[in-house]
Amino acid sequence: MESIFEHAPAKINLTLQVVGRRDDGYHLLRSLVGFAGVGDLLYFSTAKELSLKVTGPFAEELKGQNFDDNLVLQAARKLMVTSGVQLGAEIHLIKNLPIASGIGGGSADAAATLRGLIRLWELHDFSEERLGGLALELGADVPVCLKSTCSWMEGIGERLEQGPELPNLHSVLLNPGVGVSTPKIFQNLKGSYSSAKKKPVSFSSHEDVTEYLRLVGNDLEIPACRLEPVIVEALAELTAQKSCLLSAMSGSGATCFGLFASAECAQKAAHDIKLKHSGWWLSSTAFY
Ligand code: C5P
Repeated sequence: MESIFEHAPAKINLTLQVVGRRDDGYHLLRSLVGFAGVGDLLYFSTAKELSLKVTGPFAEELKGQNFDDNLVLQAARKLMVTSGVQLGAEIHLIKNLPIASGIGGGSADAAATLRGLIRLWELHDFSEERLGGLALELGADVPVCLKSTCSWMEGIGERLEQGPELPNLHSVLLNPGVGVSTPKIFQNLKGSYSSAKKKPVSFSSHEDVTEYLRLVGNDLEIPACRLEPVIVEALAELTAQKSCLLSAMSGSGATCFGLFASAECAQKAAHDIKLKHSGWWLSSTAFY
């Protein structure tokens, strides 16, 4: 039986500005998005029917939700309808990323499903444009996850541009164990919208990049910290690590990230935080 593998890397919003709102309620963003080495894994094999099996550290949390709503199945069904394909697939998702956590787990899975099934079903004529439209229907973060490369993301997530060159960086991802509802965080956003900051084409040094990220920040961090104060603690733990260059929250939370100059520094920081907070999810991982 033919089997295809796709990696669904965690998405990290290095910056996230909310710059306005559309009439339909969706918020307009400007975000610099990077990706981590850690992610979910998906295997696809040919079958008559469509089916999904989920295993891995966060499988149980996912199974607790309406399984039919899973973005993997939604993505597969949408692709079947749009392409007119009369085939099924057996999908195995290994859920390594915490759910509802601001690192795009569900969006990355949906994007990986589209990539994987296009290969499995040999839909070579499926255009980039149709694929982009389909991805956006599945969620605002799905288009950027389709690319899974450092990008500037604008509009509600449909306008993508190649991101700047980044110096070599390593990261620690930290989730303090609370799921966060994205709509709730957007609803709790107070005050006026941000004015979009410039988009540098490259960063020459760690100082360069951290200065920019600090200046721009994530507009959803304050509402998320208000709703889930444990995020303040998570950020403080990262900041307290001597070798941490910068810490911030990704997306609508609750996952926070710290940036480090080397893999050794990131590993040591993750290890030290884990000793204090054994229940938190931590991953020291490559970053690109
Ligand atoms: O598109 P996605 O399913 O990730 O979005 C979840 C919810 O988050 C949306 O229904 C909307 O309430 C909110 N959202 C938003 N503006 C965005 C992205 C999401 O208001 N750009």
